[in-house]
Amino acid sequence: MTSTASNAHASAPIGIFDSGVGGLSVLRHIRAQLPQEDLIYVADSGYAPYGDKTEEQVVDRSLAIAAYLLGHGVKALVVACNTATIAAIKALRARYPELPIVGVEPGLKPAAAISRNGKIGVLATERTLRGDKLLALREQVSAATGATFILQPCIGLADRIEQCELGNDPLDATSAMLERYIAPVLAQGVDTLVLGCTHYLFVQDAIERTVRAHTSQQIALVDTGEAVARQLTRLLDAVSLRRTGNDAPQLQGYTTATVESLAQAFAGLLDLHPPVTHLSV
Ligand code: DGL
Repeated sequence: MTSTASNAHASAPIGIFDSGVGGLSVLRHIRAQLPQEDLIYVADSGYAPYGDKTEEQVVDRSLAIAAYLLGHGVKALVVACNTATIAAIKALRARYPELPIVGVEPGLKPAAAISRNGKIGVLATERTLRGDKLLALREQVSAATGATFILQPCIGLADRIEQCELGNDPLDATSAMLERYIAPVLAQGVDTLVLGCTHYLFVQDAIERTVRAHTSQQIALVDTGEAVARQLTRLLDAVSLRRTGNDAPQLQGYTTATVESLAQAFAGLLDLHPPVTHLSV
């Protein structure tokens, strides 16, 4: 059942998935850097959020979605979700050893490189921050740079952002949640905040407002969406799988929740109107 890069063609699409709409923040960088590529986006919103699931559940969902995308003949896979990357990328690479797979994980290294005082807050889901992969990365970057990372689980935030895009949730409630999570981290003197969940990019303005309400200091926000798109470009080039030709690139959305919710998210967040189909996997 596995399709691999060895039999993939440059004209095949790239598969991208997230627990919901957060991965659209990665998709926009991929479209900017690889505008000629066909893209298939899967929002697993019927099973979101991943942040409060067990590692095993996140691995199962990730393998199920990857199998679906491979069934569509994708030539590369982007795990546009920090939680799924931390929990499941090892299992995905083991299942599809020849497939170019790019994950997104919290930008601890770039944060350490730009922080002036070496104190960095990491905002992410509980599942991401408890993952062995993330804890090993923190050890490694701390040992190499002397940086201190304050890990702040933002329980419920990704889910709230997901609901917000459906117009069901007042932004006030999101701001109150941001205040509760960000204020204690700022109080510890951080000068850099890592946005370790792809959903959080869509409330970046509200995060900046929360930061400004607490400090006049410059606080850098770190996101790895652009780096993920660069890495994807490098991997495709390495196996000569960049799409060429003049056909207009196709974008398709699939969701395990309602078609309307993903269509609204594409329109509201990215001003895009691709066909969206319900998916049962
Ligand atoms: N966008 C996912 C991430 O980057 C959200 C996780 C969730 O569904 O809780 O971690």
